[in-house]
Amino acid sequence: MKGILYLFPLFCLWCSTDMKKSKNSTILIAVSIVILGVIVSFLLVFSVLDNDSSPFSNAKEALAEEFSGAYPKEHKQDGRVVEVDIVASMGQLEIVKGHSTSVWSYNGTVPGPEIRVRKGDTVRINFTNNLWQPSTIHFHGIRVPNRMDGVPDITQLTVRRGESFVYEFTPKDAGTFWFHPHENSSEQLERGLYGVLIVEDEYSEQYSQDRVWVIDDWLLEDTYQIDPYFVTQHDLAHDGRWGNVITVNSSLQEVLRAQPGERIRLRVINVSNGRVYTTNFGSLDAKVIAVDGMYVKEAFHVNGFVLAPGNRIDVDITIPKNAAGKSFDVYDEFTRHRNILGTIVVEGNSVVTPSFPYPQNEQVPDWTDAVDVPVDKRYVLDARNSGTGLEWTINGETFSEHTPLVLQSGEFNKIAFENKSFRLHPMHLHGQFFKVIARNGRSVKEPYFRDTVLVGAQETVEVGLVPLDKGKWLNHCHIAEHADAGMTTSIIVR
Ligand code: C2O
Ligand code: CU
Repeated sequence: MKGILYLFPLFCLWCSTDMKKSKNSTILIAVSIVILGVIVSFLLVFSVLDNDSSPFSNAKEALAEEFSGAYPKEHKQDGRVVEVDIVASMGQLEIVKGHSTSVWSYNGTVPGPEIRVRKGDTVRINFTNNLWQPSTIHFHGIRVPNRMDGVPDITQLTVRRGESFVYEFTPKDAGTFWFHPHENSSEQLERGLYGVLIVEDEYSEQYSQDRVWVIDDWLLEDTYQIDPYFVTQHDLAHDGRWGNVITVNSSLQEVLRAQPGERIRLRVINVSNGRVYTTNFGSLDAKVIAVDGMYVKEAFHVNGFVLAPGNRIDVDITIPKNAAGKSFDVYDEFTRHRNILGTIVVEGNSVVTPSFPYPQNEQVPDWTDAVDVPVDKRYVLDARNSGTGLEWTINGETFSEHTPLVLQSGEFNKIAFENKSFRLHPMHLHGQFFKVIARNGRSVKEPYFRDTVLVGAQETVEVGLVPLDKGKWLNHCHIAEHADAGMTTSIIVR
């Protein structure tokens, strides 16, 4: 815009030389005044815009600066290549004792394989699909090269029956991650297709035990088979498909055996289609050290943490020295009905508690100034009736209608999720982490990043984000039924 300023001298020169030649100089002067007027008002408008955005652009630069170093932009590839074959196929699972349930699974087990690598290792997954419907694998929360993100028609073609696809990437962050199909997720996830990917670091072997609890809920018929009606109008009118049976690692009564004094790292993952859990570890000394795979800035007590579909927490638990013979229930209290998720049973001799500080990431930004920065992009979450049934929309558009949002890598952005509906929407962004800044306009101090945030009924959640990883990434509700009914948009990071 400033370029127009340079046109001024030229314009004046042209006026003065031309006037000498012209016989009808009054018209020329009038025209010149009009043109000059237009230019001046243009300049005024743009300078107003400039003045308006500059204080915030400085603030946003400072926020981006505060973020820098919070997690790495690039990976270090200094480890082994860990190669795993994963086959999706039909199988059987005993969820309820004495009854066999037909499931779909990775490598014949539910949860599928628990892949453990060290930070710096490269993961190579040879995926083969033996199901009757196409599939893909998406690595939830892992910052992978865009073409490894497993999103049909966006980053790859679907993998059809009998076909294979090789996923290869070097995780940039250590932590708790999981993987699942991104094709017809409401059915494929519900039938049992998910697995765990753990990226270990120097803290991993210091714990007495490092365990994973995968929480799922299933909608079983009286015959103990999975209810075959997916994405029903009832699911769509509510918070997706909620089951009648909750399992941890596919068990109705998961038990973790521990000795007094042990310090346990328990990685909890919610892989349910729609159900949300509020975790309660009773009187146990249990601290959250990581959320959605990433270390928190400061460990905090786990009780009350809301685990929406897609979310993970790593819990650092110290078993009391005098707890021999005791057991501790871990339960969910999101609804009025309290569900026991699993039990920690303490037995045996007391051991020396491993002593080391909580693993934490001091570089998580506070972003206290982010509350005052204007929202860059607002996403309105709502439903509409399409004649054939309910559709879930973002800014009035379903996925097939949406226009991607373009963001510049390295710049601070404030995004608002405004839930106009009375249902829940755990919004999940691929390829990036964000931090909650405010709920309903009130500033929130969450000392950690997330990849999924639950937006409650009629709630507005504002998040801050500095995208680092380039590509086209999905942004969707992690209630599988809502996502499949349109509640998906995308961002392009340049
Ligand atoms: Cu678990 Cu598109 O995500
Ligand atoms: Cu939703």
